[in-house]
Formats: sequence, C-alpha cells, structure tokens
Amino acid sequence: MKADISPIRISFCCTNTDPEPWLTGLRAALPLAEVSVWQPGVPAADYAVVWAPPQAFFDEQSQLKGVFNIGAGVDALMKLRLPPQAVVVRLEDAGMAVQMAEYVCQAVIRHFRDLNAYAEDARAGRWTFYKPRQRSDFPVGVMGLGVLGARVAQALQHFEFPVNGWSRSPKVLEGVHGFSGAAQFNDFLASSRMLVNLLPLTPDTTNILNRDTLGRLQPGGYVINVARGAHLVDDDLLALIHSGHLAGATLDVFRTEPLPPDHPFWQHPKVTITPHTSARTLRSESIAQIADKISAMQRGEPLSGIVNVGSGY
Ligand code: NAP
Ligand code: GLV
Repeated sequence: MKADISPIRISFCCTNTDPEPWLTGLRAALPLAEVSVWQPGVPAADYAVVWAPPQAFFDEQSQLKGVFNIGAGVDALMKLRLPPQAVVVRLEDAGMAVQMAEYVCQAVIRHFRDLNAYAEDARAGRWTFYKPRQRSDFPVGVMGLGVLGARVAQALQHFEFPVNGWSRSPKVLEGVHGFSGAAQFNDFLASSRMLVNLLPLTPDTTNILNRDTLGRLQPGGYVINVARGAHLVDDDLLALIHSGHLAGATLDVFRTEPLPPDHPFWQHPKVTITPHTSARTLRSESIAQIADKISAMQRGEPLSGIVNVGSGY
C-alpha cells in the first residue's frame, strides 16, 4: 500500500550500494517524497537513508529529523557526530532474522555432525564414520537476545540443542536459559560449549571474545561470530584453537573487511569463513519498513527501532 504523506525530502547516502534501485523503490513507496542521492551542496533534506556515510554528510545536513540505517548494526554511524535532534533508526529484522537463523543453525549443525570432516573424507575417497555425539553435550550460548539473537535462539531449539542466552537486561524466552548483565556473564560462558555472537558493537562489547572469555567456554568450545569483527581478538581465538581448548570457529565478520589476503583465517583448517553475508539487507523489505516509519514520523506517531545513542545500539 502506498503511503499518503505531504511532500518531504529524502537524501540517500549509502557507501558501496547501487543507489538507483533504492531510489526507484523509495519513490514508489513514498510517491509524494523527493528522493535523491546526496552530494555536497544539494538542498537540505528531512530524512536520510544511510549506510556508513561520511562525516561531511551530517555536517552539511544538520537539520535532519530522521536518519534511517539500512542495516541492523549502527556501529559505523555511532562513530560520527550526528545532528542532535535527529532520530536514528535501524532496520529491525526486515528479512534478516530468518537468514541469520539459517546461517547459525547450519554452522552449529556442521560442527556438531562433523560435516567438515565428512566433506574432507569424501574428497579423499574415504568412507568413514564418526561417533554420534550427544546434543546435551553441546549447549549453545547466544550472546545478544535482540531481534536477531532471539530468532536464532528459537531456531536452535527446533534441533533440540540446549540454548543459553545472554543480554544486558533480563529476558524471558521460552526454552532459553537466560543470563543477563556482567554479573552473570561468566556463568553463561561456563554453561555453553558453542558460542554465537549477536551483540551490537559498542564500547562495552568491543574485544568481548578474548582469551579470558573464550577460555571460560566448556572444553572443545566452538565460536560463531556473526556480529562484528571487532568483537573478537583474532590472535586469542587462534591461540585457544592451537591449545585444543576450542575446536574451531565459523566467522562471518572481520576487523578488516575484505579479510586481508595474508590473514591466517583464510587457510586455517578449523576456521570456516564467509564474507559478511550471514544476513544481507533485503532491499524491498527494507524500503517497505523505512517508508512505513517515515510515514509514521510524518504523522507524529511513535515508531520502533530507534537507536539509543547513549548506549550505542
Ligand atoms: P538488537 O535487537 O539491538 O539486540 C542487541 C542485543 O544485544 C540485545 O538483547 C541487548 O540487550 C544485547 N546487548 C547489547 N549490549 C550488551 C551488553 N553490553 N551486554 C549484554 N548484552 C548486550 O540487535 P539485532 O538486530 O539483534 O542485531 C545484532 C547485531 O547483529 C547488529 O548490531 C549487527 O552488528 C549484527 N548483524 C550482523 C549481520 C551480518 O550479516 N553479519 C547482519 C545483521 C546484523 P538488551 O535486550 O538488554 O538491550
Ligand atoms: C549488517 O551487518 C547489518 O548490521 O545489518
């Protein structure tokens, strides 16, 4: 359904994104809006649709009412000086939660069922069996029980893994053993063997996957990082794999992206990598969500997904 709003200006400023399909989609969803790609000197806009914009964008467009991030994570935005009156809004699910659930479940199952070893055996022409493992020996801890973490925790239960969850504030999710805050972090880690990171990147969570915290996982631990590369101290992960405390990792995000060609993760036999693709922004779902929220703001109605700039997510 097309939104009915009075004329507004929307500025599009998204790094590494082909603007044309976004402009077409936003114009179709908000037919009374003027939507254009930002470049220095263009007229002042009411709303911005952004991904990793330069500081110059906000310095010039200081009158913005709303800034819509075309991703769930706002860590790149939080590094910038934003117009203080602008409401910052992130994507909520918009088709990402199911993608994240399928990615994490496949990583957990791939490890639990020894599928990497079977694939290697198949390549070598070997018909080998590995001993079936007990699901109860593989509790999965999900760090972050927001839009994506909650969906992942729910999906893992379909495969009957014991699921622990950790968040800043206490959460009650059916079937999930909940832990919250710094006081319960060590207990959460000690209760988990496989660890899934779905935290936002903030000053409190940077480097949170390190030698001390990962060393608290149950022996034979496995790490799945699908949030941000700067959550993980790469050398600490490698040292714990080398010592045998961790069995390996699946990593979708990295401190430097693309992952530099000489990084040890590329060739490591116990590390599976993908190029930041676990939950992609889906254009039509995202445009529909952003258009609905701009319309709600125009009508003076409340909206969800507003970033708390103080806490950084
Ligand atoms: P969200 O809804 O904001 O959820 C964040 C969760 O983290 C909340 O449960 C929050 O606790 C918890 N949290 C935040 N700070 C914490 C802390 N210091 N200690 C403990 N828990 C803390 O975010 P989301 O939509 O699920 O997205 C999560 C992240 O996934 C994004 O920020 C982004 O970095 C990443 N992501 C990656 C991809 C990819 O393709 N790899 C795609 C999309 C998103 P409360 O519930 O108590 O607030
Ligand atoms: C992707 O990483 C996102 O934050 O949406």
